Amino acid sequence: MFNIEEFDIKLDTEFLGRNFIYCDEVDSTNSVLLTSKDFNQNGTVLLAEFQSKGRGRKDREWISSSGQNLTFSILLKEGLNENTINLINFGASLAVAQAIENLFQLDVELKWPNDVLVGKKKIAGILLESTSKGNKINKVVVGIGVNVNQPNFPGKFEIQPTSIRREFKL
Ligand code: BTN
Repeated sequence: MFNIEEFDIKLDTEFLGRNFIYCDEVDSTNSVLLTSKDFNQNGTVLLAEFQSKGRGRKDREWISSSGQNLTFSILLKEGLNENTINLINFGASLAVAQAIENLFQLDVELKWPNDVLVGKKKIAGILLESTSKGNKINKVVVGIGVNVNQPNFPGKFEIQPTSIRREFKL
């Protein structure tokens, strides 16, 4: 179970995650932040234990067992344009890769634009989506899925998935 107070104490960001929403289940954390009028604060993070319609890039599904992995999205509302979107994408992918590498001493590889791999297997993915008003980008949602504790990944995949648990052979 996620402990919000503990998370808040450890946070040393200016605005990222200062508004933190934790849910048992949503369709997709990206969809909620893209469409909901209730979440407007720059840097809002929505984390769900389960997504019934999690999605990845190229209209693929992102299937993640309930309560076993990290599935969350970050809402960004300021300083957005085509250039910053590319930087956000790159920064988010790099941050996820570095976090996994530093926390678990795994040999992480970043496959551009946003596949995070360990031993050629996918351990995390990032999906950036945006909305515009006229020709102005008014929202960017950075969706992040990290396979943490899932022991098995049944099915066929373009890139075989793995999890932190699997890499430690736990
Ligand atoms: C990919 O590798 O194709 C990107 C996967 C992104 C998955 C995350 S999980 C949280 C957020 N909500 C979604 O529906 N997708 C992203």
